[in-house]
Amino acid sequence: MKKDLLSLKLLSNEEIIDILETARDFRDNGLKLDLSDKIIANLFFENSTRTQYSFMTAEEKLNAKVLHFNAQGSSISKGETFYDTVKVFESFGCDAVVIRSSQNEYYNELKNLNCAIINAGDGTENHPTQNLLDLLTIYDEFGHFDGLKIMIVGDILHSRVAHGSVEVMKRLGMKCFISGPKEFMDDTAAYIDFDEGVKTMDVIMMLRIQTERHAVLTTLSDKEYNTKYGMNEERVAKMKDNAIIMHPAPFNRGVEVDNYVPECPKSRIFRQMTNGVYVRMAVIKRSIGD
Ligand code: CP
Repeated sequence: MKKDLLSLKLLSNEEIIDILETARDFRDNGLKLDLSDKIIANLFFENSTRTQYSFMTAEEKLNAKVLHFNAQGSSISKGETFYDTVKVFESFGCDAVVIRSSQNEYYNELKNLNCAIINAGDGTENHPTQNLLDLLTIYDEFGHFDGLKIMIVGDILHSRVAHGSVEVMKRLGMKCFISGPKEFMDDTAAYIDFDEGVKTMDVIMMLRIQTERHAVLTTLSDKEYNTKYGMNEERVAKMKDNAIIMHPAPFNRGVEVDNYVPECPKSRIFRQMTNGVYVRMAVIKRSIGD
């Protein structure tokens, strides 16, 4: 029975922990799964490096057969719609479609598809596999979620990572805060002053300013942004001993993170990318492998 993954918010706490444990089994405990009888289509209508290629890596590790759709070279240029494009791959008999689109909740257009939909990011709303790899990174570090304090810093307004995860993090017992320029703040979580948060949080998640999603909203130059809201060596030194830095990436060096940060001892940014492969293996297993 196929299972979609559309939004983290649609998963129970138990389902989330189950996916994280399965990801760990793939990563740490030698779990193997052979999906050589399955076909997955990766349909990226928006640019991506991490999500697209970690899905490919996960699919390779599971021996699935994979179709890589290239939006630029497709019949979209001839006027074919998003819906009709996805229907092509359903018609081919694909078992799952992995979709990224800049349209919020695009999956509402795709009701009753005969293949599993795995959401690889929609507009400013959801990015469930990123949310799950973030949770795995936190779970690995602390062994639990209850009472942990997280501050998400930057362009909250346009962040599918923040919008898709805070409600669930709260449901898992975390205390969530946001910080950054006021023009990028919304009601996703309580606001906290950045430098106050640097000293008190367990997890600090930095975000990129998503210029592709808006005309310039801030009057701050990159240098001014870096001075006010950038993570740097001086701020890292003020963090709690066991606190960690995360970033969904891509990150902009010299803006929200200084060169020192991505590979400093408190950074888990590249660990997040590694965890992304195993979380996506677990998500594919849940969708078409059980
Ligand atoms: N974190 C993330 O979604 O990165 P990509 O846009 O490169 O996939």
